[in-house]
Amino acid sequence: MMRHLQEKLRVELGERAYDILIGPGLLAEAGGHIAPLLRRKRVAVLTDETVAGLHLETLKDGLASAGIEMVSLALPAGEATKSWPHFTRAVEWLLDQKVERNDVVVALGGGVIGDLAGFAASVLRRGVRFVQIPTSLLAQVDSSVGGKTGINAPQGKNLIGAFHQPSLVLADTSVLGTLKPRDFLAGYGEVVKYGMLGDAAFFDWLERMGPALAAGDMAARVAAVKRSCQMKAEIVVRDETEQGDRARLNLGHTFGHALEAATGYSDRLLHGEGVAIGCALAFELSSKLGLCAQEDPSRVRAHLKQMGMKVDLSDIAGDLPDADGLLALMGQDKKVVDGQLRFILARGIGEAFVTSDVPGSVVRDLLQEALRAR
Ligand code: GLY
Repeated sequence: MMRHLQEKLRVELGERAYDILIGPGLLAEAGGHIAPLLRRKRVAVLTDETVAGLHLETLKDGLASAGIEMVSLALPAGEATKSWPHFTRAVEWLLDQKVERNDVVVALGGGVIGDLAGFAASVLRRGVRFVQIPTSLLAQVDSSVGGKTGINAPQGKNLIGAFHQPSLVLADTSVLGTLKPRDFLAGYGEVVKYGMLGDAAFFDWLERMGPALAAGDMAARVAAVKRSCQMKAEIVVRDETEQGDRARLNLGHTFGHALEAATGYSDRLLHGEGVAIGCALAFELSSKLGLCAQEDPSRVRAHLKQMGMKVDLSDIAGDLPDADGLLALMGQDKKVVDGQLRFILARGIGEAFVTSDVPGSVVRDLLQEALRAR
């Protein structure tokens, strides 16, 4: 099935190096790709109830065609699953299934399942290998690559976790066809982020190809997922545990996380939507600080609008805190270092950098303006 569209990348992390395969039809071929990793032909799959209904049979058949037996646990879909109770259930289920040190756990789902399953694999018997089979666009271009795993705490998102790299990532782009348009576009927020943070030519390409990509053009989807994963892999190889440069991947996230917290991590604002609005604000801030041309934030906003995405604070339904309230939420972010907020700013499209040197008063003015426009 359209095999000619399949692409392969390698994340060069020495002993922990792994392949990312991208393209349509990979679920149905999963057995052939996973078999070389296995000592015995059996895997334990963690998934969610929605994804299980849509894709588990295809995966089961794909594994069976290589003689691999599968057991599976479907957790409830949604962010609330990234919590201790579901994590405990997943780990105890893996132990009940007698998953051994040399076995492989498979994460079939979006970012919630990938993060939870990866974290479960990192602690099970002091660490077993796992394969990421991301089914959302966001998971295919971001969370399935790079080894950040974890769950949320009542105190904040992703505060409990571990770095644990997968042994293989299978990004089947044909499953993107089952996503709701809103979820697809939220994932697209992370795709366009890569152009904004480090590849102006990719941003140009997305301006031209974004609409076709959203409409289902498979070659464009494969190319976008490939370029995103390539950029993420390059950054992760340079800075696996985020001592510096990896933080550039958080473009738009300082504002975005505050907006997610302000909206209670609810359906009012999806993570990728918060990132897109956050990127627009980060470019606005960069322009206010004289770092980039005034046209850059306008171009960012124009593309997001062209794609039908949320761009302004007025696109978020319901009340929001005032500028000081949003600043306080930003201060609770894990990107605070030595009490200083870290921002990802840009000298232009494709030229993002990390800095703690941003006067709070400029951020407050920017937020006040953005709130006034509501
Ligand atoms: N999602 C940001 C990172 O993986 O570093």
